[in-house]
Amino acid sequence: MADVKILGICGSLRKASLNMAALRACNELLPSGMTMRITSIADLPMFNQDVFDAGLPEPARRLRAEIAEADGVLLACPEYNFSLSGALKNAIDWASRPPNQAWQDKPVAIFSATQGPLGGARVQYDVRRILVQLWAHVLPRPEVFIGMAPSKFDAQGKLTDENTRKFLADLLTGFKPWIERMKVKK
Ligand SMILES: Cc1cc2nc3c(=O)[nH]c(=O)nc-3n(C[C@H](O)[C@H](O)[C@H](O)COP(=O)(O)O)c2cc1C
Repeated sequence: MADVKILGICGSLRKASLNMAALRACNELLPSGMTMRITSIADLPMFNQDVFDAGLPEPARRLRAEIAEADGVLLACPEYNFSLSGALKNAIDWASRPPNQAWQDKPVAIFSATQGPLGGARVQYDVRRILVQLWAHVLPRPEVFIGMAPSKFDAQGKLTDENTRKFLADLLTGFKPWIERMKVKK
């Protein structure tokens, strides 16, 4: 059987992002038969329906195509002021407009990493609420909240906390059958 291909998207644009570091760690934790590539949302302009209508900017066209081609999407979500980063919301918006909105029937898994102890408990429910109304299928469990994130990575951004590595591995292991279960018969 062909590998399940997932697309990783990080909602933080900063170079030393802990969410991006955790997303990179996921590459080492994938179950067999699953592959991941990580895309960038840094070059997306701010969503503007006039720009959309005039013709998709290249970064938006690319993102939509990458989501459409992936079997599932893994979102690494920083929490900004109890909710999504502007960058992640902007990426979701660019992919959300018809025709062929890219989130339709797309299996999605999410995790979050924050400086504080809650690990992004609030952002995850906002991401779920947004994606559900776009008919994405968000994996219900396990939930992975990486709290006190700076203490869980070394100076090079390697995820050193064994429990967190196990939580992420469990998320990815659960995501694979979810993708197969949610596959739309065409
Ligand atoms: C604009 C802004 C708002 C933030 N709001 C929250 C918040 O609501 N909850 C929280 O736990 N951390 C918050 N933080 C701290 C982030 O958790 C921390 O900066 C984290 O490292 C961001 O993720 P990153 O490392 O992937 O960039 C905020 C940071 C920024 C820049």
